[in-house]
Amino acid sequence: MLIAVTGATGFVGRHITAMLTRRGHVVRALVRDPSQARALESLGVELVPGSLADAAALGTLTHGVSAVVHLVGIIVERGDATFQAVHVEGTRRVVEAAARARVKRLVHMSAVGARDEPEATPYHRTKWHAEQLVRASGVSHAVFRPSIISGPESAPILTLARLHRWSPVVPVFGDGQFPTQPVWVEDVALAFALAVEQPTLCGAFELGGPQVLTYEEFLREIGRAARHPRPLVHVPLALVRAAAAVFGLLGAAAPLTSDQLQMLVEGSATPANAIGSVFGIRPLPFDQGLNYLAPSRG
Ligand SMILES: NC(=O)c1ccc[n+]([C@@H]2O[C@H](COP(=O)([O-])OP(=O)(O)OC[C@H]3O[C@@H](n4cnc5c(N)ncnc54)[C@H](OP(=O)(O)O)[C@@H]3O)[C@@H](O)[C@H]2O)c1
Repeated sequence: MLIAVTGATGFVGRHITAMLTRRGHVVRALVRDPSQARALESLGVELVPGSLADAAALGTLTHGVSAVVHLVGIIVERGDATFQAVHVEGTRRVVEAAARARVKRLVHMSAVGARDEPEATPYHRTKWHAEQLVRASGVSHAVFRPSIISGPESAPILTLARLHRWSPVVPVFGDGQFPTQPVWVEDVALAFALAVEQPTLCGAFELGGPQVLTYEEFLREIGRAARHPRPLVHVPLALVRAAAAVFGLLGAAAPLTSDQLQMLVEGSATPANAIGSVFGIRPLPFDQGLNYLAPSRG
């Protein structure tokens, strides 16, 4: 199949694109900076220069494709790239372009915790609104809501591994008991490919790994995998919240925002994990996926 992908240059997008090409599909990707997309070109991916704001580029992207995989998302707002602009208005444009091009299948990236409740973060609320646009599109669709995605290019995991290597202690927020369910990026990529290939798989699907870990266990696994497990020091949540509020003044450069902290504390485990029950994937345990952190492997 010819498949259009947005967000193909990102951490998850690179794996999904590679998975689709390995399975014999041809990928056409929307890229903002083609000079940064050489790795995609080497996979034979056709590049369409442009952003989500570029209607002509979206027209070219979706023309004649069998499916659209929409992955673009942000975790921090930067200037005009607000959650509303990227998640909601961006998805609206992709959905409209797909409908105009009579695309038969939409596979959309959301996130576990997406919901329209007043206490939800803007990230989660705009992810939810984007889901509604996909649902209302009239196009056969699958929406994915993964927990934290683990993989060699995961920025938060690489940062925590560096912290274990270089800091005498590693901070744990509050009691560190909030649950998460990290899912291996290749398992996510396979679920996306299967959803593209099986148009009868419709609805919203949560994706998680095989184990629920507390945040503290998550940190310990990363320290073990990096071969530098450091003592963990619990920092009261009130103090972390105050620090995150101050960091917020740094804008996009903040190491931790109040919203990111809230989402961590809310947890990201998924009791409704579809990875095995719907997609028949036996998910890789978190510790096995972390082998790339071992020093001998660079
Ligand atoms: N990573 C996780 O743990 C996780 C968990 C759950 C859900 N998700 C979701 O998965 C998706 C991918 O996440 P990721 O971790 O791969 O993020 P990422 O590495 O930051 O990649 C984001 C991608 O979106 C593109 N992009 C951002 N703004 C854009 C815009 N205005 N127009 C066009 N392209 C734009 C980026 O393009 P450039 O290369 O040009 O910047 C990049 O290809 C997101 O929707 C995210 O919310 C991620």
